[in-house]
Amino acid sequence: MDPTALRHIFLKNVDNYPKSAVTKNLLKPAIGESLFVAEGAHWRWQRRAAAPVFSHRNVMNLSPIMSSAAIRCCDRIKNQENYPINFFDEMVNTTFDVISDVTFSDDEGFDRVGVHRAIDSYIAEAGKISLPDILGFPDWVPRLSRVISGKALKQMKTLADSVIDRRRDGPSKSPPDLLDLLLAGVDPKTQREMNTGELRDNLLTFIVAGHETTALTLSWALYLLANDDRVQELARQEVTEKVLSEKVQGRDIVNLKYVRSVIDETLRLYPPAALVSRTAAGFDNLCGREIRPGDTVIIPIYALHRHHTLWRNPDDFYPERFETDSPQDRYAYLPFGDGPRVCIGANFAINEAVIILSSLLKRFRFKPVAGLVPSPKMILTLRPEGGVWLMAEPI
Ligand code: HEM
Repeated sequence: MDPTALRHIFLKNVDNYPKSAVTKNLLKPAIGESLFVAEGAHWRWQRRAAAPVFSHRNVMNLSPIMSSAAIRCCDRIKNQENYPINFFDEMVNTTFDVISDVTFSDDEGFDRVGVHRAIDSYIAEAGKISLPDILGFPDWVPRLSRVISGKALKQMKTLADSVIDRRRDGPSKSPPDLLDLLLAGVDPKTQREMNTGELRDNLLTFIVAGHETTALTLSWALYLLANDDRVQELARQEVTEKVLSEKVQGRDIVNLKYVRSVIDETLRLYPPAALVSRTAAGFDNLCGREIRPGDTVIIPIYALHRHHTLWRNPDDFYPERFETDSPQDRYAYLPFGDGPRVCIGANFAINEAVIILSSLLKRFRFKPVAGLVPSPKMILTLRPEGGVWLMAEPI
C-alpha cells in the first residue's frame, strides 16, 4: 500500500511486473491472448490498435445507447415500485444491455440471453479461485480454470465469430459501435489489423471486463446513497437542475459534477477490482523487501483506498473529497490501475455510470430495506453478497 512502491510497479519498472499467473490462468480460457492478458509486443500492438476505439468522441457517440438502457431500467423498476428490488441484478442486466448493444447489437443470430448466461456462469466458476491458481503451482497440476464451462464457451465463441465475419462484409453501424471501431483499428506502428479470433477475444474481453465492474459500481453507489439522505438529495438536486430534458444524455455529463464525485467515492470505498496482482519477472526491491522472479505481488486496492495515513476519515462516504483538486497522493487511488496497463474502458465506464445513476435519481428515491445489508465479498471482483436490496419510491 505504499504509493511510491505502487508507482514503481505500475509505471517505473512496469516491464518487471507482468500480469500474474493467477490472472492469466483464470481468464485465458475465455478471452485468449487478448488485451487484458497479453504481454510484451503482442499486448503493445493490440493496445495501440484498440486505443482509438475508446477516444472521447467515440465514447460520447455511444452515450444514446447508455441513455436508452437507463430508461428501460427505470421502466422495469417502475413496475415493481412497492417491493424490495435487488439492484445488483438490475444493474447487471442494465450494463449487459449496454455492452451487448455496443458490441454485437442487433446482429442477426446474436443470442443475447445465451451469451449473457455463458459469461455469467464463466465468471461464477472462475470466481472459485483454487489455491493452486493463487500459489502458482506448475501448469500440469489440474485446476478448476481448465475444466470450466467448456461447451458454453465454445458455443459463445463460434457465435461471436460468425457475427464478426458477417459485419466485416456488411455496412457498419451509425454511429459505429465497438465492433465497427475495432474492425477499423490498425496498429499505427506495424499496420497490423486484428483477425477474427483476435477481434472476438477482445470483444469478449470488453464484455467480461466492462459489464460486471460497472454494475458493481452502480449497485454500491445506490447502496451508499440509500443510506445517506444528505448525499442522495444533493445528487438529485444537481440532476434536477442540470438535466432539462427527460433523458440524461452524454452532453449532460460535464454538468453532473457531484454525481461524478459520488461515483469516484463509490469506487474508492468499493473498488470492483479490489485486488490486482502481478508476478515478478526478475529481482527487485519493494519497500525494502527483496522480490524474486516468480514472486506474486498482490496490490490490495480496497485496503489502499481506506488507508488511514493516506485518507482523512477513510471509512466515511464523503463525495465532496473528490470535488476539490485531489490533495491525496495520486497512487493512493487506483480503481482503474495505472500506467500503460490502465483500464482502457475507464471513460466508457464513468460515462455509463453517471448516465445510469442520474437517470435513476431523476425518477426514484432509494431507501434501505431493514435487515438486508449486503456484505462485500471478493469473488474475482468485490461483490455484494446477498444482493443490494432497496426500495425505490417514485419521485
Ligand atoms: C467501473 C468499471 C471498471 C473498473 C473498476 C475497471 C477496472 C480495471 C482495472 C483495475 C484494470 C487494470 C487491471 C490490472 O492492472 O491488472 C482494467 C483493465 C482493463 N479494462 Fe477495465 N474496468 C472497468 C470497466 C471497463 C470497461 C467498460 C471496459 C471495456 C469496455 C474495460 C476493459 C478493460 C481492458 C481491456 C483492460 C486491460 C487493458 C490492458 O491491459 O491494456 N474495463 N480495468
